[in-house]
Amino acid sequence: MGQDNLLEIENLRICVDSDGESLPIVDNINLTLKVGEILALVGESGCGKSVTAQSIMRLLPKMLKIETGQITWHSPKQGKPIDITGLDPRGKEIRHIRGDEIAMIFQEPMSSFSPLHTIGNQIMEVVRIHRNAGKKEARAVAVEMLDRVGIPDPNRVVEQYPHELSGGMRQRAMIAKALSCDPALLIADEPTTALDVTIQAQVLSLMNDLQREFGMAIVFITHDLGVVAQVADKVAIMYLGKIVEQGVTREILLNPKHPYTVNLLEAVPRLGRIEDRQALVPIQGNVPSLFDRPIGCPFVTRCSKVIADRCDVSNPSLSTISKDHKVACFLHETTERIPA
Ligand SMILES: Nc1ncnc2c1ncn2[C@@H]1O[C@H](COP(=O)(O)OP(=O)(O)OP(=O)(O)O)[C@@H](O)[C@H]1O
Ligand SMILES: [Mg+2]
Repeated sequence: MGQDNLLEIENLRICVDSDGESLPIVDNINLTLKVGEILALVGESGCGKSVTAQSIMRLLPKMLKIETGQITWHSPKQGKPIDITGLDPRGKEIRHIRGDEIAMIFQEPMSSFSPLHTIGNQIMEVVRIHRNAGKKEARAVAVEMLDRVGIPDPNRVVEQYPHELSGGMRQRAMIAKALSCDPALLIADEPTTALDVTIQAQVLSLMNDLQREFGMAIVFITHDLGVVAQVADKVAIMYLGKIVEQGVTREILLNPKHPYTVNLLEAVPRLGRIEDRQALVPIQGNVPSLFDRPIGCPFVTRCSKVIADRCDVSNPSLSTISKDHKVACFLHETTERIPA
């Protein structure tokens, strides 16, 4: 493994218990993240993006279990690698990592804030715990962070309750709270989905600025490849709990190989397309249920390039097609042996 890796996820498999049977929700996930790098996890609803992110924080819902694999956190603060999968999810060690070293912006904007306390008090609480700061210092940090994320009049907002803020401002306050403990890794689960497009663009450029300024790594979860182009260094495309294509963002977006990635890109609105009056192409059909997984490639039921007796028989594994690019598709396999 690379020396400056911050996070390594190896062969991660997370299962749900269903009537005594263990069904995989995400499987064979391999990801690495270096210090200061931005990785985007992309895919349609239900493909396992949030579950993967939650497992890094050991915040999986009760029904879900990490069955195999390892998540290694190379803690810059503690100066040693920690096997996150080996920790007690309610123990002291993971609680120390959460918030102090890894912060998360949750998909549900309201779930990060309690409605009962002011924005300021909630940020101050994080600062006081993680920076061991007094009340006055914590308040100053809270105001500074709110200012830093572009909230006008932070001295007033610090006294406000979450419901008094607009959606965009609440999202910014959430980012301020997550950043206030100076994490080495920020996990942002669809941080812009609930926002209108102009605010979305502002929040994305803000995240880019903050990443540069604070030097933290980011796992950015989205279903929008347009957003990926703006923020990510590298990208992993997920489908039905598996990574089907991954690599350096530029390479994946300019030279997509998996029919699913190609379809996702065709579904992204672009100005040029509007001028040409070229219609967006929605992806045919729906993501199959986890309980009704197709035989063969997970994308076989929606793919327009199915190779008969091949894609509907076996599941292609992720193969390296260049230094910056991996894909799991029989159309592009390199070293895969054809099963008899
Ligand atoms: N607590 C749970 N119990 C059972 N199944 C669950 C639970 N949480 C998630 N799942 C299942 O795991 C799969 C992946 O869910 P996940 O929330 O990771 O999807 P996602 O990619 O984040 O989707 P979205 O874009 O809608 O947020 C889904 O099929 C979901 O139904
Ligand atoms: Mg999600």
